[in-house]
Amino acid sequence: MIPREGTNLDPWYGLYADRTAGLSASEVRALFAVASRPEVVSLAGGMPFVSALPLESIRSSMERVMRDQGARALQYGSGQGTPELREHILEIMALEGVRAGVDDVVVTTGSQQALDLIAKLFLDSGDVVLAESPSYVGAMGIFRSYQAEVSHIAMDADGMIPAALVERIASLRAAGRRIKFLYLIPNFHNPAGVTLSWERRLEIIEIARREGVLIVEDNPYGLLWFDRPAPHAMRSVETDGIVYLGSFSKTLAPGFRIGWALAPHAIREKLVLAAESAILSPSAVNELVVSDYLANADWKGQIDTFRGLYRERRDALIDALEHYLPDLEWTNPNGGFYVWVTLPEGLDAKAMLPRAVKELVAYTPGTAFFADGAGRANLRLSYCYPTPNEIREGIRRLASVVRGEQELLSTFHPTGPVDLVLPAPHVISPPPNLG
Ligand SMILES: Cc1ncc(COP(=O)(O)O)c(C=O)c1O
Repeated sequence: MIPREGTNLDPWYGLYADRTAGLSASEVRALFAVASRPEVVSLAGGMPFVSALPLESIRSSMERVMRDQGARALQYGSGQGTPELREHILEIMALEGVRAGVDDVVVTTGSQQALDLIAKLFLDSGDVVLAESPSYVGAMGIFRSYQAEVSHIAMDADGMIPAALVERIASLRAAGRRIKFLYLIPNFHNPAGVTLSWERRLEIIEIARREGVLIVEDNPYGLLWFDRPAPHAMRSVETDGIVYLGSFSKTLAPGFRIGWALAPHAIREKLVLAAESAILSPSAVNELVVSDYLANADWKGQIDTFRGLYRERRDALIDALEHYLPDLEWTNPNGGFYVWVTLPEGLDAKAMLPRAVKELVAYTPGTAFFADGAGRANLRLSYCYPTPNEIREGIRRLASVVRGEQELLSTFHPTGPVDLVLPAPHVISPPPNLG
């Protein structure tokens, strides 16, 4: 029998759990399907340039695993992940000053799953998660799906501002709100492109200790630095109050879907139970292949290759912005994948996106990275996937869109600024000439 609360579109509508109210497709999703066409320069996604990987080495690892450990690879594994892989993970984290034991690490299905498990362990409806302003869209989606509220803390070129954090903790607590953790992306922030300074890392750790706030340090990009290494991880100086997350997605390949959490003892035990309940165990095949690759291939050299490649693309993007759009503001990342752009006053990145896609360039509007509707003047540009030439062409196209918007604005508001909301469609449908 079809439940009576249903609709014509979805007969089960009335039966979904309350928490699914947070599961909404982004308004720009349909547009991104169009933006993935080859003629569009996409500066929107955060896809690593996997074509630069040593595919032969990875193939050898796959063959070796199947030849030498085929039965183990095809069986259920340990919920916490294989001991070999956890050993390798310790070696990788040591590059950023983190020391831990193999028992402290939990292998997950990407760091995205680690975020989901942490949210599942800590968040009740109405809880507050503190995060940077802006923050990673995928993390906020998870927090929302557990019915928590994200409270954004101001940041500048050195990352989150400690004084703003102190103030916010006080005001939330005065209002009777329950803060569950502070979610931070200290290195080459997604989407802001900035890095939290060492001094601020220490200050924020001190604040969190004093206030009894757990820190979730999400670090998928730390090894992808360009001109100088990022400061050591926050977890290098604080063990009890931090859950640290790492991933092979950006430094190796997202297709393996292997990430990890390093957590204080009590939290780690619960994480393993939650992971087992969610997936029984991570993919044993992928764990063994990644372990074999790390044991036999020049993985540090491969990360160096990625660094050189992304540095060149960052340079191409910044040069193109300086050349074509000198009146905009942007961050200049020292690693990672992203540049955060602020448009001239009066322009709206979300309203401008359909016109940009029509001009065959795509970006991610800033509103995606705020839980509170802010970010209309911002956009995120990713330089990880397109070639330097494509990046230059993409920015040339973007510049013509921005100029067009500015002309429109001065036509409608010749006397100048400007709290005009452009008469642009807020419900986005694919532009007609792209189908
Ligand atoms: C800041 C941040 N955290 C976590 C993730 C999830 O990565 P994965 O699940 O592939 O490890 C991403 C992916 O873009 C990210 O940018």
